[in-house]
Amino acid sequence: MLIHSASQLLTLSGGPQRGADLGRLAIIEDGAVLVRDGRIAVVGTSPDLLRSHENESMLDASGCVVMPGLVDPHTHVVWAGDRAAEFEMKMAGAKYLDILAAGGGIISTVNKTRGASIEILMDETRPRLARMFAHGTTTAEAKTGYGLESQAELRMLQAILALDASGPLELAPTFMGAHAIPPEFKGDMQAYTDLLCTEMLLFIRQWWRGQSSTVTRSLPFVDVFCETGAFDLAQTRRILSRAKELGFPIKLHADEFVNLGGASLGVELGAVSADHLVKISDIDVQALGSSDTVAVSLPCTPFGLAESEFTPAQKIIAAGGLLALASDCNPGTAWCESMQFVIALACRALKLTPAQAIAAATINAAHAIRRADRIGSLEPGKQADLLILSVPDYRQLGYRFGTNLARQVIKAGRVYAVETDAHPLEVEPTPGEDS
Ligand code: NIG
Ligand code: FE
Repeated sequence: MLIHSASQLLTLSGGPQRGADLGRLAIIEDGAVLVRDGRIAVVGTSPDLLRSHENESMLDASGCVVMPGLVDPHTHVVWAGDRAAEFEMKMAGAKYLDILAAGGGIISTVNKTRGASIEILMDETRPRLARMFAHGTTTAEAKTGYGLESQAELRMLQAILALDASGPLELAPTFMGAHAIPPEFKGDMQAYTDLLCTEMLLFIRQWWRGQSSTVTRSLPFVDVFCETGAFDLAQTRRILSRAKELGFPIKLHADEFVNLGGASLGVELGAVSADHLVKISDIDVQALGSSDTVAVSLPCTPFGLAESEFTPAQKIIAAGGLLALASDCNPGTAWCESMQFVIALACRALKLTPAQAIAAATINAAHAIRRADRIGSLEPGKQADLLILSVPDYRQLGYRFGTNLARQVIKAGRVYAVETDAHPLEVEPTPGEDS
């Protein structure tokens, strides 16, 4: 298949973009991409590729931006139930960490999720993944963390793997047994930390290695919520060090509400990413800037909580850091399925240019889940994950928000149409029994 005549083809070629390099879209005007067997075969200009590949099936992208599929490197997209009542409480003044300390928040979702089978978890998650995909996300990370005991965590992991296998959206799994303190361990964080280090991590690794579908795949990420009211710095260090020792790649939630020095710990331990970073100190910024740990900003989280402070992205860029964007899609702080909205918000709240936000949501986001060798840019040999936008200029992404600009989403060479501009169809109500 030849996708041709794109007004702008954003290739994002050349690898992850660090510091001032962020925002290098590597645009080809009147661009074209040749897709073969689900992979990108050739990238070039339309006149060149149309001439040399005239017998291919054609996809005309006239008037459209063609770019890599969006990558969302931090989500808690698998859960049961919702927390609309808590949202109302928060808007009336209740604080997120206070609700959590009172046994609500993450724990209320844990109670619902523990009661759900793998099938129910999948049924509740599928529509969210469908909306993410319709908005152009072709790969997302997905965390466990609403089970907080081995079997319930495993069910979440199994749901993630089954949803990944059924596609089209690809999921990168993360084990987050260290998301909160389970109710049965209330007041004894140390005992739960012990359990994670001595049993749960081993249990997950053993299960993973025992499955024919995962035995050859690298282990999932391990993530810890390093925060007041969750895991302190010493507990985070223990869990992540143990995970690393067992061969898991590691990530952490750092400095979301309180600065505990989580980002520097992540750098020290060689974490793949440190995420949130709202309360990050200047020392942490410097540590991240000279490391390979990706700084993942989640602007929907402060926005979702009606807070006004965001990740100091400009400082991270100035320090030479690798910045990525993610949705954090979760029922408590940010039920957002659209990376297009994340980009629009990041432009305003993080002061990114549209080009910087796009790079942070594609090639750098892929790097934040260790998949930049396979996705995140349009380069020969990479998987053909593309997004066709119904606009001719990439700056419309960021500029516009609240509507979906996707026209087609392409996953591994398969084309999916998005019906966003179709006028709603009028529907006749079903007549009642007596009429
Ligand atoms: O990233 N901070 C911890 N985890 C999520 C929220 C999860 C929840 O409230 O259910 C976050 O904001
Ligand atoms: Fe999170």
